[in-house]
Amino acid sequence: MNLLVIGAGYVGLTMSVCFAELGHSVICIDKQKSKINALLKGELTIFEKDLDKLLVKNLQSKRLKFDISMKKSVENADVVMIAVGTPFEGKLNGYNQSGIYSVAKEIARFINKYRVIVIKSTVEVGTCDKVEQIIKETNPKADFDVVSIPEFLREGSAVYDFFNPERIIVGTGSPRAKDIIKELHKPLKKKKLVFTSRRSSEIIKCASNAFLATKVHFINEMADFCEKVGGNVCEVAYGMGLDKRIGREFLKPGPGYGGGCFPKDTKALASLGKRVGASFNLIETVICANENRIKGFAQKILSCVKDIKNPKVAFLGLAFKSGTDDCRCSPGVDIVLELINKGVKVCVYDPVAMKNAKTILKSSVFYAKDEYEAAKGADIIVFATEWKQFKFLDWTKLSKIVNNKIIFDMRNIVDKQETLKHGFECCKIGC
Ligand code: UGA
Repeated sequence: MNLLVIGAGYVGLTMSVCFAELGHSVICIDKQKSKINALLKGELTIFEKDLDKLLVKNLQSKRLKFDISMKKSVENADVVMIAVGTPFEGKLNGYNQSGIYSVAKEIARFINKYRVIVIKSTVEVGTCDKVEQIIKETNPKADFDVVSIPEFLREGSAVYDFFNPERIIVGTGSPRAKDIIKELHKPLKKKKLVFTSRRSSEIIKCASNAFLATKVHFINEMADFCEKVGGNVCEVAYGMGLDKRIGREFLKPGPGYGGGCFPKDTKALASLGKRVGASFNLIETVICANENRIKGFAQKILSCVKDIKNPKVAFLGLAFKSGTDDCRCSPGVDIVLELINKGVKVCVYDPVAMKNAKTILKSSVFYAKDEYEAAKGADIIVFATEWKQFKFLDWTKLSKIVNNKIIFDMRNIVDKQETLKHGFECCKIGC
């Protein structure tokens, strides 16, 4: 099939590469010329495990193309997927969907035969209806269906998730569109297509993210409780997670959820709930507590070094989690900003997110080339993301280069016994 993907961000790019890998002919377009030029050369514009090899392979096979122009691509496509960004905008108290609406207008002009328009971006409930209306108004003769297929890929394991989906939610009432969507996913071996109404599909996406964010918040509060009463949150989470009704996933405590999705999806859902008179008190509490966690964690770091004059912090992990270079709403970056505001000297390191972090932190911190350079002369080493390489540091080497042997492990990844052997004091979360 011929597929056109609009938007080459984390979602659009992954979808384009993976659908090409399934054998479809894919064109991915983006307005940013520099991005398209890099992708045409086989250079990945984001960090995503396994995506680089698939990008090059599918460019070479000519199943995957990149472009900046819409006209020809829409005319040839059976399915058009809209995967443009919908950032949260404070003024609107919701998603800024202007990108989706202008793309809808543009596509409409070039629809010359039946097309399925898929909304992949995370959107407010009712967006598919609006897109349908825009296309009808722009081109009254256009023959098309607008379908909601929300994205459930996780950054860092997006390729794995694409080929091993737990469910593919398809919001449509159109039998014609259903057949085309079935055909599009036919080469995918493991698939579970679930057909719903468009609005249910749109709700499933934000409800899933809000539920997972709530689960993370729950275990974070449980970690705080364990610290007060002397339990171990890792043991508690394990014991709870064995109950299938609870499940083991998303019970890892940390500095709070972040990224391009949970923070904006929870806020957008809470705000829409309020507007329509169905308030989400629980989600509002989660949002507030998650934001407060940043200040609380910065304070925890400062109290670990309260007896040291002008302490120097080695901060490891800047993206919102490991496995990605995405620093949007990163708890790590926000905690660094809190520390800087308090006049603390910070030296940072992240295996892949230094470039993105620099756009936010600018020249306010020192950028190290690795964990050891960051730790040189440090009074405390902070672990903010769960990169595997952080688990296997050379503690003998570190114990010789730090100024004070203190560790603050926000993700419970460090082997405490090992650090104690080297004379470190190791503070973990919820134990
Ligand atoms: C999330 C969803 O998991 C995807 O299904 C969805 O497609 C995506 O948002 C999206 O809407 O596009 P992602 O943002 O990549 O994916 O990140 P997650 O792995 O879900 O983690 C979200 C946040 O929760 C991170 O800050 C992570 O560190 C935190 N988290 C997660 C915890 O603190 N503890 C956990 O046990 C799990």
